[in-house]
Amino acid sequence: MRVAVIGALGQLGTDLCHKLGDEAVPLTHDDVELTEPDSIRRALDRAAPEYVVNTAAYNLVDRAEDEPERAYAVNALGARNLATVCADRDVPLVHVSTDHVFGLDRDRTKPYRESDAPGPVSVYGVSKLAGEYFVRSLCKRHFVVRTCGLYGKAGLSGRGKGNFVETMLRLGRERPEVRVVDDQRCTPTATVDLAHAIVRLMQTDAYGLYHVTNAGDVTWFEFATEIFRLAGFETRVVPVRSDEFGAKARRPAYSVLDCEKLRAVTGFKLRSWRDALSEYLSRRSTEEI
Ligand SMILES: NC(=O)c1ccc[n+]([C@@H]2O[C@H](COP(=O)([O-])OP(=O)(O)OC[C@H]3O[C@@H](n4cnc5c(N)ncnc54)[C@H](OP(=O)(O)O)[C@@H]3O)[C@@H](O)[C@H]2O)c1
Repeated sequence: MRVAVIGALGQLGTDLCHKLGDEAVPLTHDDVELTEPDSIRRALDRAAPEYVVNTAAYNLVDRAEDEPERAYAVNALGARNLATVCADRDVPLVHVSTDHVFGLDRDRTKPYRESDAPGPVSVYGVSKLAGEYFVRSLCKRHFVVRTCGLYGKAGLSGRGKGNFVETMLRLGRERPEVRVVDDQRCTPTATVDLAHAIVRLMQTDAYGLYHVTNAGDVTWFEFATEIFRLAGFETRVVPVRSDEFGAKARRPAYSVLDCEKLRAVTGFKLRSWRDALSEYLSRRSTEEI
C-alpha cells in the first residue's frame, strides 16, 4: 500500500516512514504546504497514495499565543484543506492531534476518553481541535489520533527542533540544576511507539477518534527526574508551579488519555512511558537512532 506521509522530516513522520519502509511516500514541507490547497493536490497527484497520514502541524505552543493566525492557518484550515482533498479522492486520512484539546476541567483526575468533551486552554489547543473537527466532518474515512509529549530521533539535538528529553539533556549538561513544572500531569510518548500504533490502526477500518500514548502518567518534573537518573546525570531538578515558570501559553493541569479504545480495536497497548524513555536513552547513547 502506498502511504503518503506529510511532515516526513518531523519526529513522528521520520519514525512512521521508517516503520512503513517501502510503503512510505515521504512528503516534506518542501513538497506540501498545508495552507495551500494546490500544493496538497499537486503532491498527492505525484504520490498517488492509497492512504495519507498527516503528521505536520504548527507545534509552537507558546508562540501560537502571539501568532494565532498562523496556528489556525496550519492546524485548522490546513487540516480542512487536506481533508477536502482526501475526501474528493476517497483516500483515507490519518490526522494527528493532541492532549492540549483538554485542560478546561481543572479538577480532572481521571484519564480522558474519546467520548469526553474537549475544552482547550490555549490558541494551539483550539487550533488543533478545530483541525480535528474539519477532518471528522469532511473526510468520512479518517482516523484522528490524539497523543502527548512526543519525542523521537528526529528531535535529537543538532538534527531537528528538539523535544523535552533533548532539552533536559542539554540543560543538564549546561547547568547544575533545572526548574521543571510539577503541576501538569500527562503521558509523554515515544514517536516510535506512536508510529507502530498508527500502522496497527491503518490495518483496520474502525475509523474514528483515538487516544494513543505510552502507558502510565507523570508530571514533567517527574519525567525530567527520570531522564537524569537513566542518563546518569547528577543534575538537581527543582519542582515549580506553572504560574512560577511563566510560560506564555496555558497547558492542561491534567491531560492523561485513556487508550482502551485502541487496545479494544487493535489488541495493541503501548508500553509504559518509563520503558519507552529508557529505550530511547539507551539507543541514543549507542547512536543507534
Ligand atoms: N511534539 C509534541 O510534543 C506533540 C504532542 C502532541 C501532539 N503532537 C502532534 O503530533 C504531530 C507530530 O508532531 P511532531 O513532534 O512529529 O512534529 P514536528 O517534529 O514538529 O514535525 C512537524 C513537521 O511538519 C512540518 N510542517 C510545519 N508546518 C507545515 C505546513 N504548514 N505544511 C506542511 N508541513 C508543515 C514541519 O516542517 P518545518 O520544520 O519545515 O516547519 C515538520 O517537518 C503533530 O500533529 C503535533 O501537533 C505533537
